[in-house]
Amino acid sequence: MNGARVELRSICKKYDDACVLQPLDLVVEQGEFFALLGPSGSGKSTLLGTIAGFIPPSSGEVVVNGDDITGVPPHRRNLGMVFQNYSLFPYLTVYRNIAFPLEMRRVRPKEIKQAVARVLDMVQLSHMADRLPAQLSGGQQQRVALARAAVYDPPLLLMDEPLGALDKNLREDLQQEIREFHRKVGATIIYVTHDQYEAAAMADRLAILRNGRIEQCGSPHHLYNHPGNSFVAGFLGEANLFEITSKQEGIENGNADVIAETRQGVRLIAARSPQDDAAIAYIRPESIVINPSSSATLANVHDAIVDDIVNSGGSLRYRLRVTDNCVLTARKPNDRSIADLPLGEKVRCAWDSKEVVFVPR
Ligand SMILES: Nc1ncnc2c1ncn2[C@@H]1O[C@H](COP(=O)(O)OP(=O)(O)O)[C@@H](O)[C@H]1O
Ligand SMILES: [Mg+2]
Repeated sequence: MNGARVELRSICKKYDDACVLQPLDLVVEQGEFFALLGPSGSGKSTLLGTIAGFIPPSSGEVVVNGDDITGVPPHRRNLGMVFQNYSLFPYLTVYRNIAFPLEMRRVRPKEIKQAVARVLDMVQLSHMADRLPAQLSGGQQQRVALARAAVYDPPLLLMDEPLGALDKNLREDLQQEIREFHRKVGATIIYVTHDQYEAAAMADRLAILRNGRIEQCGSPHHLYNHPGNSFVAGFLGEANLFEITSKQEGIENGNADVIAETRQGVRLIAARSPQDDAAIAYIRPESIVINPSSSATLANVHDAIVDDIVNSGGSLRYRLRVTDNCVLTARKPNDRSIADLPLGEKVRCAWDSKEVVFVPR
């Protein structure tokens, strides 16, 4: 089976006077795993609802495989949905829950049996076919919901924060499972989440929403390395953001550079770039070197106090106070070469001029 190509043309949604979706355009390609990422209230569920058909857009068109389906009711759209709260039928067994959409479609019993067995196998729950939802864990219930959404082979699967109710470890396991599931079924998946790590880990491409607008669209790698504005830079991954108050050109170490004064009071030395007239500059936490060796030639060097250190498994996150107005976040891999730094320790923090990136506000 092939996935559907979904095209949104000038989709807009208004409730009374409130414009919840600004006119927006989006193309999700056949078979893509596409994430809608944004803070709570940014319009993700509303946008998904317009694709599913239970929220009629105020204007614009939803086009699937070239057909305008804007007026088609949800049950005729040939898509599967998975929500955060599983929405399984509590009095039906796992088997009957998954068979239900096929029974509604009057599929022959023999085919129902085959189809249910196939998806149960995909989500590794064949041995639990006779249980009731209440006899399953949250993760297992969500796998049943996934199997039910996919049992009639829809070319499009819509998922709205499907892992939102699960704890962190289980969530990571299921992220992996849903990705494998996607590869097996080949359907296009549009996946809503507010969790940047989940979106970056799962999606081929994603759109970042804010206030009903798509701020930027692209692969996680592209958005992380080429954010179009300061919101995207700060929302996908962490960023130390600086507001530029004035700028001049200068020569540092024989290179033509930009010297920028910031509202935080810290002067930034940046490499020349096409975007260097933008209003905001950012530095990624992993670009900041703590106590650089004396032979390092980093253009920006500042004294700082270690305010806090958070050990988050694979990495250490430092809060470095350069001044009371400027506290930077730095991140290092948590390997054995890292010397312990006591809180309150005076350190030097430094970064290369190329690590100062300018973006529009
Ligand atoms: N039925 C409705 N009537 C009025 N406003 C709504 C309705 N549904 C959602 N909204 C508003 O639309 C905005 C986007 O909501 P939603 O799409 O649920 O955001 P998200 O899923 O990103 O958290 C919110 O400000 C919400 O309050
Ligand atoms: Mg939502």
